[in-house]
Amino acid sequence: MEFSNIIQQRRSVKSYAPEKEITDAELAELFQEVILTPSSFNLQHWMFIAVKSPENKKKLKEAAWNQQQVEDCSVALLVCGKLDAYKDAAEIYKNAPQQVQDNVVPMINNFYEGKEQLQRDEAIRSASLAAMTLMYAAKNRGWATGPMIGFDPEAASKLLKLPENYIPVMLIVMGYQKDEPRSRDGRRSIEEVVKLDSIDGPGLKA
Ligand SMILES: Cc1cc2nc3c(=O)[nH]c(=O)nc-3n(C[C@H](O)[C@H](O)[C@H](O)COP(=O)(O)O)c2cc1C
Repeated sequence: MEFSNIIQQRRSVKSYAPEKEITDAELAELFQEVILTPSSFNLQHWMFIAVKSPENKKKLKEAAWNQQQVEDCSVALLVCGKLDAYKDAAEIYKNAPQQVQDNVVPMINNFYEGKEQLQRDEAIRSASLAAMTLMYAAKNRGWATGPMIGFDPEAASKLLKLPENYIPVMLIVMGYQKDEPRSRDGRRSIEEVVKLDSIDGPGLKA
Protein backbone atom coordinates (compact mmCIF):
# COMPACT_ATOMS: atom_id res chain seq x y z
CA MET A 1 0.00 0.00 0.00
CA GLU A 2 1.22 3.48 -0.72
CA PHE A 3 2.47 5.08 2.50
CA SER A 4 0.20 8.09 2.23
CA ASN A 5 -2.83 5.76 2.00
CA ILE A 6 -1.64 3.84 5.04
CA ILE A 7 -1.52 7.07 7.03
CA GLN A 8 -4.94 8.16 5.85
CA GLN A 9 -6.63 4.79 6.31
CA ARG A 10 -5.20 3.82 9.70
CA ARG A 11 -7.82 4.14 12.40
CA SER A 12 -8.00 3.24 16.06
CA VAL A 13 -10.09 0.11 15.79
CA LYS A 14 -12.14 -1.09 18.76
CA SER A 15 -14.05 -4.00 17.21
CA TYR A 16 -12.30 -7.24 16.21
CA ALA A 17 -13.25 -10.64 14.82
CA PRO A 18 -12.38 -12.89 17.79
CA GLU A 19 -11.86 -16.05 15.70
CA LYS A 20 -8.91 -14.58 13.77
CA GLU A 21 -5.48 -15.69 14.89
CA ILE A 22 -2.05 -14.32 14.09
CA THR A 23 0.92 -16.65 13.75
CA ASP A 24 4.29 -16.06 15.35
CA ALA A 25 5.77 -15.95 11.82
CA GLU A 26 3.44 -13.08 10.87
CA LEU A 27 4.29 -11.26 14.07
CA ALA A 28 8.02 -11.79 13.48
CA GLU A 29 7.76 -10.32 9.97
CA LEU A 30 6.03 -7.27 11.35
CA PHE A 31 8.55 -6.80 14.14
CA GLN A 32 11.46 -6.98 11.68
CA GLU A 33 10.20 -3.54 10.59
CA VAL A 34 9.32 -2.27 14.04
CA ILE A 35 12.86 -2.75 15.32
CA LEU A 36 14.12 -0.33 12.64
CA THR A 37 12.46 2.55 14.54
CA PRO A 38 14.91 5.30 15.51
CA SER A 39 15.83 5.85 19.16
CA SER A 40 18.20 8.20 20.93
CA PHE A 41 21.76 6.85 20.77
CA ASN A 42 20.16 3.76 19.18
CA LEU A 43 19.39 2.52 22.68
CA GLN A 44 16.13 0.86 21.57
CA HIS A 45 14.39 1.36 24.89
CA TRP A 46 11.40 -0.73 23.80
CA MET A 47 10.12 -4.15 24.77
CA PHE A 48 6.88 -5.70 23.52
CA ILE A 49 4.86 -8.34 25.31
CA ALA A 50 2.68 -10.11 22.75
CA VAL A 51 -0.32 -11.55 24.55
CA LYS A 52 -2.06 -14.18 22.45
CA SER A 53 -3.36 -16.74 24.92
CA PRO A 54 -7.12 -16.43 25.59
CA GLU A 55 -6.50 -16.66 29.35
CA ASN A 56 -4.04 -13.77 29.47
CA LYS A 57 -6.05 -11.65 27.02
CA LYS A 58 -9.06 -12.07 29.30
CA LYS A 59 -7.04 -11.10 32.38
CA LEU A 60 -5.57 -8.13 30.53
CA LYS A 61 -9.07 -7.05 29.49
CA GLU A 62 -10.06 -7.04 33.16
CA ALA A 63 -7.06 -4.76 33.84
CA ALA A 64 -8.24 -2.52 30.95
CA TRP A 65 -11.65 -1.47 32.25
CA ASN A 66 -13.13 -4.52 30.52
CA GLN A 67 -12.64 -3.00 27.08
CA GLN A 68 -13.75 -5.90 24.90
CA GLN A 69 -11.21 -5.29 22.12
CA VAL A 70 -8.46 -6.58 24.44
CA GLU A 71 -10.08 -10.02 24.47
CA ASP A 72 -11.30 -10.07 20.85
CA CYS A 73 -8.09 -8.94 19.15
CA SER A 74 -5.67 -11.48 17.68
CA VAL A 75 -2.84 -10.16 19.83
CA ALA A 76 -2.63 -7.54 22.56
CA LEU A 77 0.76 -5.90 22.58
CA LEU A 78 1.99 -4.22 25.73
CA VAL A 79 4.55 -1.69 24.52
CA CYS A 80 7.04 -1.15 27.33
CA GLY A 81 9.93 1.24 27.87
CA LYS A 82 13.20 0.32 29.54
CA LEU A 83 14.15 2.95 32.12
CA ASP A 84 17.83 2.02 32.37
CA ALA A 85 18.42 1.33 28.67
CA TYR A 86 21.53 3.53 28.81
CA LYS A 87 23.28 0.68 30.64
CA ASP A 88 23.06 -1.38 27.42
CA ALA A 89 25.31 1.03 25.52
CA ALA A 90 28.47 -1.11 25.69
CA GLU A 91 26.58 -4.12 24.35
CA ILE A 92 24.89 -2.14 21.56
CA TYR A 93 28.13 -0.52 20.43
CA LYS A 94 30.33 -3.61 20.80
CA ASN A 95 30.81 -3.98 17.02
CA ALA A 96 31.47 -0.28 16.41
CA PRO A 97 35.08 0.84 15.80
CA GLN A 98 37.03 1.02 19.09
CA GLN A 99 37.32 4.80 18.85
CA VAL A 100 33.54 5.15 18.57
CA GLN A 101 33.03 2.81 21.53
CA ASP A 102 35.53 4.77 23.63
CA ASN A 103 33.74 8.04 22.89
CA VAL A 104 30.10 7.09 22.82
CA VAL A 105 29.71 4.66 25.70
CA PRO A 106 30.98 7.05 28.44
CA MET A 107 29.07 9.89 26.78
CA ILE A 108 25.80 7.95 27.00
CA ASN A 109 26.50 7.08 30.61
CA ASN A 110 27.15 10.72 31.54
CA PHE A 111 24.08 11.83 29.66
CA TYR A 112 21.65 9.56 31.55
CA GLU A 113 23.16 8.45 34.86
CA GLY A 114 21.23 9.77 37.86
CA LYS A 115 18.67 11.57 35.66
CA GLU A 116 15.49 9.66 36.36
CA GLN A 117 13.14 12.05 34.59
CA LEU A 118 15.24 11.94 31.42
CA GLN A 119 15.47 8.13 31.57
CA ARG A 120 11.70 7.93 31.82
CA ASP A 121 11.13 10.49 29.06
CA GLU A 122 13.43 8.56 26.74
CA ALA A 123 11.78 5.23 27.52
CA ILE A 124 8.38 6.72 26.69
CA ARG A 125 9.68 8.57 23.63
CA SER A 126 11.36 5.54 22.05
CA ALA A 127 8.58 3.11 22.87
CA SER A 128 6.01 5.55 21.46
CA LEU A 129 7.90 5.90 18.19
CA ALA A 130 8.10 2.11 17.94
CA ALA A 131 4.37 1.91 18.67
CA MET A 132 3.67 4.17 15.70
CA THR A 133 5.89 2.10 13.42
CA LEU A 134 4.00 -0.95 14.61
CA MET A 135 0.60 0.54 13.79
CA TYR A 136 1.65 1.59 10.28
CA ALA A 137 3.49 -1.67 9.55
CA ALA A 138 0.41 -3.59 10.74
CA LYS A 139 -1.90 -1.52 8.54
CA ASN A 140 0.37 -2.19 5.57
CA ARG A 141 -0.15 -5.92 6.18
CA GLY A 142 -3.93 -5.69 6.50
CA TRP A 143 -4.07 -5.73 10.30
CA ALA A 144 -6.08 -3.19 12.24
CA THR A 145 -4.73 -1.75 15.48
CA GLY A 146 -5.93 0.29 18.40
CA PRO A 147 -3.61 2.15 20.78
CA MET A 148 -4.84 2.17 24.37
CA ILE A 149 -3.94 3.87 27.60
CA GLY A 150 -7.14 2.80 29.34
CA PHE A 151 -5.65 0.15 31.58
CA ASP A 152 -4.24 -0.16 35.07
CA PRO A 153 -0.46 -0.07 34.57
CA GLU A 154 0.27 -1.78 37.88
CA ALA A 155 -2.14 -4.64 37.22
CA ALA A 156 -0.82 -5.09 33.66
CA SER A 157 2.79 -5.01 34.89
CA LYS A 158 2.02 -7.63 37.51
CA LEU A 159 0.12 -9.89 35.13
CA LEU A 160 2.85 -9.77 32.47
CA LYS A 161 5.66 -9.92 35.06
CA LEU A 162 7.44 -6.67 34.20
CA PRO A 163 10.51 -6.05 36.34
CA GLU A 164 11.03 -2.64 38.02
CA ASN A 165 13.15 -1.23 35.20
CA TYR A 166 10.36 -1.55 32.62
CA ILE A 167 7.25 0.64 32.41
CA PRO A 168 4.14 -0.01 30.35
CA VAL A 169 3.88 2.82 27.79
CA MET A 170 0.74 1.79 25.92
CA LEU A 171 -1.27 -1.21 24.93
CA ILE A 172 -1.90 -1.88 21.23
CA VAL A 173 -4.62 -4.29 20.24
CA MET A 174 -4.23 -5.80 16.79
CA GLY A 175 -6.43 -8.05 14.72
CA TYR A 176 -9.06 -8.25 11.99
CA GLN A 177 -11.40 -5.31 12.00
CA LYS A 178 -15.05 -6.31 12.49
CA ASP A 179 -17.04 -3.05 12.38
CA GLU A 180 -16.13 0.21 10.68
CA PRO A 181 -14.93 2.87 13.12
CA ARG A 182 -16.94 6.09 13.33
CA SER A 183 -16.06 8.68 10.70
CA ARG A 184 -13.07 10.80 11.58
CA ASP A 185 -14.00 14.02 13.29
CA GLY A 186 -12.53 16.66 15.53
CA ARG A 187 -9.13 16.94 13.86
CA ARG A 188 -7.52 20.31 14.46
CA SER A 189 -6.36 22.12 11.31
CA ILE A 190 -2.71 22.47 10.38
CA GLU A 191 -3.13 26.23 10.78
CA GLU A 192 -3.89 25.60 14.46
CA VAL A 193 -1.09 23.14 15.11
CA VAL A 194 1.77 24.37 12.89
CA LYS A 195 3.18 27.81 13.68
CA LEU A 196 5.81 29.52 11.61
CA ASP A 197 9.04 30.58 13.33
CA SER A 198 7.70 30.79 16.89
CA ILE A 199 4.60 29.65 18.69
CA ASP A 200 3.09 33.13 18.42
CA GLY A 201 3.82 33.21 14.68
CA PRO A 202 1.17 32.75 11.99
CA GLY A 203 -0.38 29.33 11.50
CA LEU A 204 0.56 27.39 8.39
CA LYS A 205 -2.15 27.73 5.76
CA ALA A 206 -3.23 24.74 3.70
C1 LIG B 1 -1.85 6.89 23.65
C2 LIG B 1 -3.25 6.58 23.20
C3 LIG B 1 -4.15 5.99 24.07
C4 LIG B 1 -5.44 5.64 23.68
N1 LIG B 1 -6.24 4.95 24.55
C5 LIG B 1 -7.43 4.46 24.12
C6 LIG B 1 -8.20 3.59 24.95
O1 LIG B 1 -7.83 3.23 26.06
N2 LIG B 1 -9.39 3.14 24.48
C7 LIG B 1 -9.84 3.49 23.25
O2 LIG B 1 -10.93 3.05 22.86
N3 LIG B 1 -9.12 4.31 22.42
C8 LIG B 1 -7.92 4.78 22.82
N4 LIG B 1 -7.14 5.58 21.98
C9 LIG B 1 -7.61 5.87 20.62
C10 LIG B 1 -7.96 7.35 20.40
O3 LIG B 1 -9.21 7.63 20.94
C11 LIG B 1 -7.91 7.63 18.89
O4 LIG B 1 -6.57 7.45 18.43
C12 LIG B 1 -8.32 9.02 18.51
O5 LIG B 1 -9.65 9.23 18.85
C13 LIG B 1 -8.14 9.29 17.02
O6 LIG B 1 -8.80 8.33 16.23
P1 LIG B 1 -8.07 7.60 15.01
O7 LIG B 1 -6.80 6.98 15.58
O8 LIG B 1 -9.04 6.56 14.52
O9 LIG B 1 -7.76 8.62 13.99
C14 LIG B 1 -5.87 5.95 22.37
C15 LIG B 1 -4.97 6.58 21.49
C16 LIG B 1 -3.67 6.86 21.88
C17 LIG B 1 -2.72 7.47 20.88
